[in-house]
Amino acid sequence: MEKRTKSENIVWHGGAVTYEDRCALLKQKGLVIWFTGLSGSGKSTIAVELEKQLTAEGRLVYRLDGDNVRHGLNGDLGFSASDRDENIRRIAEVAALFKDAGVITLVSFIAPFRRMRAFAREKAGENGFVEVYVKADVNTCAERDPKGLYQKAFKGEISDFTGISSPYEEPNQPEIVLDTTQNSVEESVRKIKEYLQSDGF
Ligand code: ADX
Repeated sequence: MEKRTKSENIVWHGGAVTYEDRCALLKQKGLVIWFTGLSGSGKSTIAVELEKQLTAEGRLVYRLDGDNVRHGLNGDLGFSASDRDENIRRIAEVAALFKDAGVITLVSFIAPFRRMRAFAREKAGENGFVEVYVKADVNTCAERDPKGLYQKAFKGEISDFTGISSPYEEPNQPEIVLDTTQNSVEESVRKIKEYLQSDGF
């Protein structure tokens, strides 16, 4: 994962309003909470509930979801390793911008390779990134199959399907692990909120 700067002769232009100014205005710190895990593991479901609860508590939250972003900004990308790299590169940059805007940014993308998550972490800055591994084994995800995609993948109708015909590298040291074969959505959300509180957010 590399930074891309094809353009030459570009000069950074600083503003008169800082990140700290925005945090003071919003009474919160910017943050990237990155949900990684297999399709059907529960990333989006948990992110939606967390977004709802934090918003009700008066926080400014925004959710970036793989399926949604692939309808627009990343509509030109498929599921080859290089397209996934570009998918995550773009969204890591976008998430870092949202964080800089002071927003609690919930990102639910599979991001199957460790290098991608390391890149996103570096972009967000060490104090502003929480990696949440939404853990469910591939058999459970295939049983849930909320979008019918595993069935298609098993029939060979979808190539490069994560967990079936494309690898998923488990996180080595995520801040939070949520085992969704054991915990309810409510329990998972509570666990994240407890982590945020203990970490000063
Ligand atoms: S990522 O690997 O590049 O991070 P992303 O999170 O954007 O993936 O998109 C994953 C979603 O796209 C899945 O939840 C699923 O709905 C859909 N999808 C379609 N084809 C595939 C595929 N080959 N592998 C994984 N997910 C796929």
